[in-house]
Amino acid sequence: MMTATNAIGWPHAAEPIEFDVYRRRADFPILSRKVHGKPLVYLDNAATAQKPQAVIDALVAYYTTENANIHRGVHALSEQATESYERSRAVAQHTLNAADTAETVFVRGTTEGINLVAQTWGRANIGRGDEIIISAMEHHSNIVPWQLLCEEKRARLRVAPINDDGELLLDEFEKLFGPRTKLVALGHISNALGTINPVSQVIELAHRFHARVLLDGAQAVPHLKVDVQALDVDFYVFSGHKVYGPTGIGVLYGKRQLLEAMPPYQGGGDMISSVTFEKTLYNRLPHKFEAGTPHVSGAIGLAAALEYVQAIGIDRIAAHEQELLSYATEQLRAIPGLRLIGTAREKAGVVSFVIDGVHPHDIGTVLDQEGIAIRTGHHCAQPLMQRFGVPATARASLALYNTADDIEKLVTALRKVREVFA
Ligand code: ALA
Repeated sequence: MMTATNAIGWPHAAEPIEFDVYRRRADFPILSRKVHGKPLVYLDNAATAQKPQAVIDALVAYYTTENANIHRGVHALSEQATESYERSRAVAQHTLNAADTAETVFVRGTTEGINLVAQTWGRANIGRGDEIIISAMEHHSNIVPWQLLCEEKRARLRVAPINDDGELLLDEFEKLFGPRTKLVALGHISNALGTINPVSQVIELAHRFHARVLLDGAQAVPHLKVDVQALDVDFYVFSGHKVYGPTGIGVLYGKRQLLEAMPPYQGGGDMISSVTFEKTLYNRLPHKFEAGTPHVSGAIGLAAALEYVQAIGIDRIAAHEQELLSYATEQLRAIPGLRLIGTAREKAGVVSFVIDGVHPHDIGTVLDQEGIAIRTGHHCAQPLMQRFGVPATARASLALYNTADDIEKLVTALRKVREVFA
């Protein structure tokens, strides 16, 4: 792949990769394996996406030729590893269109990013009687950190309701704002429903009330273009493994002045500029928030994944997934007894459903025997399941390598589920 220097001064994959889905499938070695003797049909991408060879190669190359600790050594390997790690940060910055690498903190994933904001910005800025607004469709990782904070500070967690299609009720949302509202924490895209939330409107509304906004972008970055400057969002978090990168690495974006003012999250090496027993001075951004040896290989693998997506083009991936989503929705609606959970007008490639008289786990088990991987359960969104009056759903979720053939196999297997259990 050719590289060129982009506006942020680091080499990026500039040569576009053709988007022929069958060619792209060949980039993902795992997709050629069989499960229970059947070709794998992987439809659990909202849980984690598969990895292209480019990511696997980047990890192998790092450990084969460069591995060293970073920001610490004067030796060649340490300098090379440091450069690769910081270059990866620039790729993440570029992906989010953050203004500066200082605003791009590497974390373990979305969950850690949200906890970091809750425990640093939250502890410093939320007081007794203050209010935090979330929505009824949040993942547990965007509920529990705020509950912990509210409990500690005697603050109040308020929940914006949704309609039966799984869309935010913006009028009701607006009514929750008041002088004590300090933060809105919202999923950009719901992991369980696929709803794409009207985040620009929410941010504009929150800022009118002088509240900050954190967006959980775990399900968004793999599926649509995110521009933190255009959104004017205060904090944005995503995970590497859902965007074809390794597990254990993610990114927290925060506006510079907010990150500057926040106390550190964890103490340790690398996050300091000097230590005495009397006083420690903290490192500059973003290192202030990266205590200890970071996940160097993870960051490098993530950069390879983000560059792979960039080379294909996120808009082309989105268009492909939208086409498959329409096809899947139409096909699933035609199955007797199947009810879709989550029918928002603005949706990403997630189809959640229940079938009359069949437990979602049984659906998952029958599909597994056909080599089809989906997720069944509450999707770490138990309050949302309660909102829809179901204990669990079955969920198929799409990625760039899925095809109409995958959808047809899913539909055939679901008809079989009906026959087995009806
Ligand atoms: N949050 C991931 C999911 O939705 C694990 O499956």
